[in-house]
Amino acid sequence: MKKLYKATAKSPANIAFIKYWGKKDPQINLPFNNSISMNLSHCFTVTTVEFVKRFRKDRVFINDKEVFAGKKDRVVNILNIVRKMAKIDWKARVVSQNNFPADAGIASSASGFSALALAASKAAGLDLTLKELSILARFGSGSACRSVIDGFAEWKKGKDSQTSFAVQLAPLEFWNLIDIVVVMAKEKKKISTTEGHAAALTSPHYKTRLKELKARIKNLRETFLKKQFKKFGELIEEETISLHIIAMTSNPPIFYWDKGTMVVINELYNWREEGFLAYFTIDAGPNVHVICRQKDERKVNQRLKELPEVLFTIVNHPAKGSRLVEKHLF
Ligand code: DP6
Repeated sequence: MKKLYKATAKSPANIAFIKYWGKKDPQINLPFNNSISMNLSHCFTVTTVEFVKRFRKDRVFINDKEVFAGKKDRVVNILNIVRKMAKIDWKARVVSQNNFPADAGIASSASGFSALALAASKAAGLDLTLKELSILARFGSGSACRSVIDGFAEWKKGKDSQTSFAVQLAPLEFWNLIDIVVVMAKEKKKISTTEGHAAALTSPHYKTRLKELKARIKNLRETFLKKQFKKFGELIEEETISLHIIAMTSNPPIFYWDKGTMVVINELYNWREEGFLAYFTIDAGPNVHVICRQKDERKVNQRLKELPEVLFTIVNHPAKGSRLVEKHLF
């Protein structure tokens, strides 16, 4: 039977409780610090990759649109690494679909590159270990190395490419934390994470952040493993503020938050006075991820949706990491 050089993978986005911000080596996405995350059940990418001998060039389609796949493209970079590992030189067709809206402000790079890493390596006939897959995904996007792992992951910063990958911190059944992504009306142009990572090193506070992170990572791991929700929530907020202090004090300064971001933060503070606990974490954009416990999910979601600044919400539970699926996109 003819061997099929085609595979499809499904992979989740993830939310970082401890964040990757600033690159030690931008060529291979080496971070300055460990980061900790949870996979999101309702934000994922499905990607099909096929290598065909007669193809003359790589072609990449994302959400039904063909994107330019030049030599420097991050997708082509992953394909090249895979071709080298598998010792093939065939070009590929890549088709990728996100289940969440492109303007939802949820980074699709983590789900996208982790799905690509699994689909491309399988299509090329490789059987990578989780570690190898995490490293391969990292070349596409740093945060993607965490999406490969089931449930909750810690990306160990490592010393070099081979030692920088994610491992499991806890399986998804460990703690049913909820992440409600609060999508707000867009007010300004987004500044890319790539720009943010590069600018981070210009902040006079970056060294302080790295120093503080040692204790924060240890405390976060501990409170997470003991399921101490209040302390855990306070730490993820402290971490978010730390990242955004770096962004705002970078050269040039980057303000990811807008009016709606502050409205949600203030709401969460008010609820806490009622004894009702939910906490925020925010990536490189204005949308807020509200972390709460399962028992509060409905009430939190309801209240968030009532805010005039909120366009819609996406409710996520912890999810599995990258998986192969049978149904191809083409
Ligand atoms: C704020 O992984 O998107 O979401 O490696 O350049 O693709 P690249 O960056 P990316 O950065 C994620 C930044 C963050 C924090 C995090 O997810 O850890």
